[in-house]
Amino acid sequence: MVKGLFIVLEGIDGCGKSTQIKGLANYVFDLDKSKHVFLTREPTKISKYGEQVRKLLANKKDPKKDSEFFTKLYVKDRWFHVKNHILPMINARCMVLSDRYKFSTFAYQLAQGADLKTLQQLHKGFPVPNLTIIIDITAEEAMKRLGKIGNKKEVFENLEFLTKVRENYLRMKEIFAEENIVVINGMRPKEEVFKEIKKEVHKIL
Ligand code: TYD
Repeated sequence: MVKGLFIVLEGIDGCGKSTQIKGLANYVFDLDKSKHVFLTREPTKISKYGEQVRKLLANKKDPKKDSEFFTKLYVKDRWFHVKNHILPMINARCMVLSDRYKFSTFAYQLAQGADLKTLQQLHKGFPVPNLTIIIDITAEEAMKRLGKIGNKKEVFENLEFLTKVRENYLRMKEIFAEENIVVINGMRPKEEVFKEIKKEVHKIL
């Protein structure tokens, strides 16, 4: 019987997760016709909290400020996402692929100065992904890639801050010791990274 699955891609800005998750959605969709894929992302642009957070990201200047406010918005947005999209889709036996999830809050808001215990408390009751893949690149590489894209920078897209965020991502396996988390080296050609992602996904199919 087909089962619902929940897979998350994570990593610092510029790590390539958005490209990889789109590739993965295509791949799984073609793999066999029983696979119904739901591709989604956080922060959402659907809940009012997601909208608020995107405004903040564009306008704030100091990444180390307002960790509590950011945390509140991201977690409320996540509850909305889980309740209205993620859980119904898992229950309908779809494969849910999410570009970012709770690990982003543990990586970014911890880097902003949030308290680990508080974040753990706030995340009680959230569904645990069947697989989380963290695509790891250095903050220097991230800044290089983000510069190339040429977009206006958001508040968290700065070298010192992303260095901290990356360090936090590398602690996820320890923070969520019971969960299935894999760190993949994202400093290689995207085809190689994709190959490894496929390998990990096949282990849980
Ligand atoms: P991002 O994936 O970069 O979205 P987009 O490509 O649409 O801009 O996410 C926006 C920013 O939000 C990114 O810098 C990471 C940050 N973020 C957090 O700080 N905490 C969270 O819980 C989430 C989901 C994202």
